[in-house]
Amino acid sequence: MEIMVVGGGGREHAIIRKLKENPKVNKIYCLPGNGGIAQDAVCVNIGAKEIDKIVSFAVENKIDYAVVAPDDPLVLGLVDELEKVGIPSFGPNKRAAIIEGSKAFSKNMMKKYGIPTADYEIFTDPIKALEYVKTTSYPTVIKADGLALGKGVIIAEDYETAKSAIESIMVDKTFGDSGKTIVIEQFLVGPEVSVLSFTDGKTIVPMISSMDHKRAHDNDEGLNTGGMGTIAPNPYYTKEVAKRCMDEIFLPTIDAMNKEGRTFKGCLYFGLMITADGPKVIEYNCRFGDPETQVVLPLLKTDLLSVMMAVTEGRLGEMNVSFCEDKSACCVIVASNGYPSSYKKGFEIHLPKENANEIIYVAGAAQNEDKLVTSGGRILGAVSTAGSLKEAINNAYKLVERIKIDNTFYRKDIGQRALAASKEN
Ligand code: AMP
Ligand code: GLY
Repeated sequence: MEIMVVGGGGREHAIIRKLKENPKVNKIYCLPGNGGIAQDAVCVNIGAKEIDKIVSFAVENKIDYAVVAPDDPLVLGLVDELEKVGIPSFGPNKRAAIIEGSKAFSKNMMKKYGIPTADYEIFTDPIKALEYVKTTSYPTVIKADGLALGKGVIIAEDYETAKSAIESIMVDKTFGDSGKTIVIEQFLVGPEVSVLSFTDGKTIVPMISSMDHKRAHDNDEGLNTGGMGTIAPNPYYTKEVAKRCMDEIFLPTIDAMNKEGRTFKGCLYFGLMITADGPKVIEYNCRFGDPETQVVLPLLKTDLLSVMMAVTEGRLGEMNVSFCEDKSACCVIVASNGYPSSYKKGFEIHLPKENANEIIYVAGAAQNEDKLVTSGGRILGAVSTAGSLKEAINNAYKLVERIKIDNTFYRKDIGQRALAASKEN
């Protein structure tokens, strides 16, 4: 089979490495891919938002199956366009991708179907939003409605911060049209859990849980990033929490999307907060998380391509999807100094040979003649799997130490909070 994966980060590298385990796969194209992915797939210089070019490429190259990984092409309707030309794809169609594409949609859906989430108000008029934040309690959370590269969420400790957030999103249009509408919601407290799931709109199979580390620096200091590291499984996701999530959140969400005429097929990501009142939805994503995928997929025992095709064909209920329940994984992201603000690029990357239970997933790297050089904020993720979380963390850091790149940094505390919370400690 010839497969096309759309996207070009560490998440896509993890998907490709896993797809390659299936002997039926003889070629994988990655659009646009990156310098590291080029070791595992044929990278084609077409951007993930260039819908028409992607579809033409898929037709010309007789692609048998497509995997659309990032939010933008899903929200733009790439899966619908591929379906029109007869190419089966993994990912939700445009109508279903709105679950991530519009926070106003997802909040209203949760309210309508009684799915637990933070209380909220929606505003399209900045004057009304400014009036509201004069009387609301603090901290309060302000979110741009649409996609904003994970930067559209501001936690305001006081009125002044809320006012400047509203002005920046709605008046200065920092996130363009994504900020025409905003959601202002109650601040929730509790540990966060990411749960990715496979669903064909009838059956939902949660993957092993994980924990992201979003802030740039140790002890959750610094700016929010795309994610600086992950561990799986997440110790806060106990059996009891998992059952409540299934009954109160996962199944009701699938049901709600069906009732709205927006059947979701693909990977549905639940960003959850385990509050004193039980689990609540912080956000939905219509795709695999990054860098959650980098710790979840190495623990998947079942063949990924078979599960994805079962999702596309609506027969997930027939599959037995299993994960290595006795293992843990840790991913440490190595980033360019200065990330998530401005940073320099072009530093040479020296990757060590991977030992068993080690994987390096490359994100921000480009091929420059015969050298691999840095080209993005998050450069790569060093992943280790092991029999315990402690060992997975130690081994991931040992792997990081063998990677040689100038002008980089990484968090030293990935997984420490989870380790303290887990029984092994
Ligand atoms: P999101 O992009 O919606 O995942 O938000 C980014 C981060 O902001 C989340 O991972 C949380 O840490 C935080 N956050 C979002 N919404 C809330 C909320 N209602 N209460 C507390 N923290 C939140
Ligand atoms: N790691 C969070 C996300 O993928 O949105």
